[in-house]
Amino acid sequence: MQHAMTRREMIGAGALLVGSVCGCRTGDDSSVPRSTCCSTPDIEPESVTYGPGGLTIDLLKAPSLREIGSAAYVVNEARSLQLIVVHVEKDAYCVLSRLCTHGGQVISYQRERGMLQCNNFNHSIFLLDGRVRKGPAQTPLKSYGVVLVEDALVISV
Ligand code: FES
Repeated sequence: MQHAMTRREMIGAGALLVGSVCGCRTGDDSSVPRSTCCSTPDIEPESVTYGPGGLTIDLLKAPSLREIGSAAYVVNEARSLQLIVVHVEKDAYCVLSRLCTHGGQVISYQRERGMLQCNNFNHSIFLLDGRVRKGPAQTPLKSYGVVLVEDALVISV
C-alpha cells in the first residue's frame, strides 16, 4: 500500500532535485542567453572595458542584457570583480555582488520574481537593492553605482 507524501517529504524531495538536476533551462531555445532560477549567462567580454574608477559596458555589444528582465555576470578575477548586472526596466539597471553573503555561492536573477536567488540549495533570496528577503543569509549583497550614458553602463566599483 502506498502512502501519500507529507508536505515535509515533498519539500525534501524538491530540495534533492534542486541539488542534483535543474530543468529550468529546458525548453528555452532562445539564441540569447537568459537568466533563470539557477543560471545566469556571462556578459559578452567584448562589451566590457575597464578604467580607473570602474568599468563600462557597451550595451550594443551585450545582447545578454538587451531584454528587460535579463541579467548577466561580469567577472574579472584579476580585479577581484564578481558582479551581476540586471536590466530591471526600461533604462534602469542594477549591479550587485554575485556572491551570496551566506556562504559565497553564486546567485542568479529570477526574472519571474524580480529577485536574486542563491544557487546553493539553501536559496537565500535578495532584493534588487541587495537587502535580504529570505535567509539563511543575514547580510545584504553589496550594490554598486551604475549610470546609463547613451548606450553604455558606467559602473563604479
Ligand atoms: S551560500 Fe547562499 S544560501 Fe548559503
